[in-house]
Amino acid sequence: MDRKTFIKSCGMVCLSGTSFMSLLQSCGSIHLVKGNIEGDDLVIPVQDFEFKKGEEIRYKKYLVVEQEILQYPICVYRFSEHEYSALWMRCTHQGTELQVFGDKLLCPAHGSEFDAKGGVQNGPADKTLRTFPVRFQDGLLKISLKAIG
Ligand code: FES
Repeated sequence: MDRKTFIKSCGMVCLSGTSFMSLLQSCGSIHLVKGNIEGDDLVIPVQDFEFKKGEEIRYKKYLVVEQEILQYPICVYRFSEHEYSALWMRCTHQGTELQVFGDKLLCPAHGSEFDAKGGVQNGPADKTLRTFPVRFQDGLLKISLKAIG
């Protein structure tokens, strides 16, 4: 094996290790829930954001909400007790399903990047993500799907 081939091989091994670690980290932070449909709303209990660390109640940063009638999941970010964003996980470039990495949504197709409110951080996408109004009622978070055509 010549020097160039050796360096290239090492690079691939390192890259694989990095990808594997990223995958593990992302698996550990996935918060997948199934939403219920009630009329025009996709509904999840606000409690789904909660988790316990010792005796302390903490809150997940986001949930990915799936429902079989939806073509793409919806990512719901929690900013505070009363502030949430609900984002359609469909890339505005060519429609690939996005992946969540902490405060960002990334497109595996061509690398577009969106923030937790749907704004474009990196192209080639040039339009913000579709968002849905969110409201509270009796301990439930109701995401209005009226906007989905
Ligand atoms: S489809 Fe998402 S960047 Fe192209």
